[in-house]
Amino acid sequence: MITLRKITLENRRAIFNLEVSEDQRRFVASNLSSVASCYVLTTNGGHPFPFAIYADEQPVGFVMITYRITGYELPAIAEDSYCILRLMIDKHHQNRGYGREAMKKILQFIRTSPAGPAYCCWIPYKPENVAAKRLYESFGFRDSGEIVENESVTVLRL
Ligand SMILES: CC(C)(COP(=O)(O)OP(=O)(O)OC[C@H]1O[C@@H](n2cnc3c(N)ncnc32)[C@H](O)[C@@H]1OP(=O)(O)O)[C@@H](O)C(=O)NCCC(=O)NCCS
Repeated sequence: MITLRKITLENRRAIFNLEVSEDQRRFVASNLSSVASCYVLTTNGGHPFPFAIYADEQPVGFVMITYRITGYELPAIAEDSYCILRLMIDKHHQNRGYGREAMKKILQFIRTSPAGPAYCCWIPYKPENVAAKRLYESFGFRDSGEIVENESVTVLRL
């Protein structure tokens, strides 16, 4: 079963060691860099939720969810919305349905309004990232037509 768990002193190294394949590195930052970004967001008024993705007791991936993200070039819908950033499943654990199950858990979490109310959730992704695009579209996300920092913006009404 897939679960989202907090990054802890015990699991942090295992999460930092998870990685995507070489040809996927242009799609997502390292988990160490993402956790560092969470720290910077927190100390600048942001609301990041970094999670380890577990398959039973095995760490297999990472995701970071933000609310009212600030300090970036932003799409029009960024105000009062959640953003899913840096979703990754380690290269050894891909294509087993973990990414799909993780997305279900991520959307369940967002629908609890953990940082405040929101009408929508958005995800920035590289237009050539076919796997991510298909995954997001299968959950009802649709491209808004905006490009932010060379990434397409896909949006789901909550
Ligand atoms: C995108 C990613 C998280 C998907 O995780 P995963 O566990 O391999 O995905 P799943 O096995 O759950 O597959 C979910 C869906 O993704 C899509 N998908 C996954 N791999 C794919 C591929 N190689 N080609 C096309 N679609 C693919 C399919 O729609 C698939 O659904 P289906 O099997 O019902 O057709 C994973 O490929 C990854 O970590 N990629 C690198 C990092 C990245 O690009 N993150 C997104 C940043 S925006």
